[in-house]
Amino acid sequence: MASTETKNIVWHDASVHREERNNKNGHESFVLWFTGLSGSGKSTLANAVSRKLFEDNKQTYVLDGDNVRHGLNKDLGFSPEARKENIRRIGEVAKLFVDSGQIVSTAFISPYKEDRQQVRDLLGENEFIEIHVDCSLETCEERDPKGLYQKARTGEIPSFTGISSPYEEPEKPEVLINTEDYSIEEAVDIIVEKLKEKGLV
Ligand code: ADX
Repeated sequence: MASTETKNIVWHDASVHREERNNKNGHESFVLWFTGLSGSGKSTLANAVSRKLFEDNKQTYVLDGDNVRHGLNKDLGFSPEARKENIRRIGEVAKLFVDSGQIVSTAFISPYKEDRQQVRDLLGENEFIEIHVDCSLETCEERDPKGLYQKARTGEIPSFTGISSPYEEPEKPEVLINTEDYSIEEAVDIIVEKLKEKGLV
């Protein structure tokens, strides 16, 4: 049922279709959804995969939590509701990117299963590849690249994922990578192999 906000809005069909874009690009378009704790390596991996695909003549783009929160989502904080809205918007943006023929990598903690499932449901089969960037809290805290864990421990930052706010691990991600066990290059190869296996690249 249309909400009151959308009831007088009619969908307009595009003049260039996604299939045409995919044919022109020579590859499918889909989302690589990187999820994991802060400091687990999501952004690093998403960018490294994107670079590799780009060099292989693929259309790619990275949507990164820290960057998107400076613009589109700068009105959102870190309450469960705000995180939910953060992920909902990113899901919708990612879907637009897929429609535009891109392989879009997203790097958001996305701590709630339900929110990630909602994005999966928004997309078609094989359009949502969930990549759990696994890394123990101890290691993330040791790395602490932005000094945020330290602030979370002292209470300066409330509701910090892994410390004072939950992270719900994916049950059946398409790819599971522990960044304590692999180099970035190895992790990229594992992901790209998986995409080849699925016939996506
Ligand atoms: S999400 O939970 O809504 O998916 P998102 O990935 O957009 O989070 O943003 C996480 C980034 O915001 C972290 O990498 C960190 O740099 C910063 N940050 C600031 N406050 C918090 C907090 N309370 N919990 C987690 N990350 C935070």
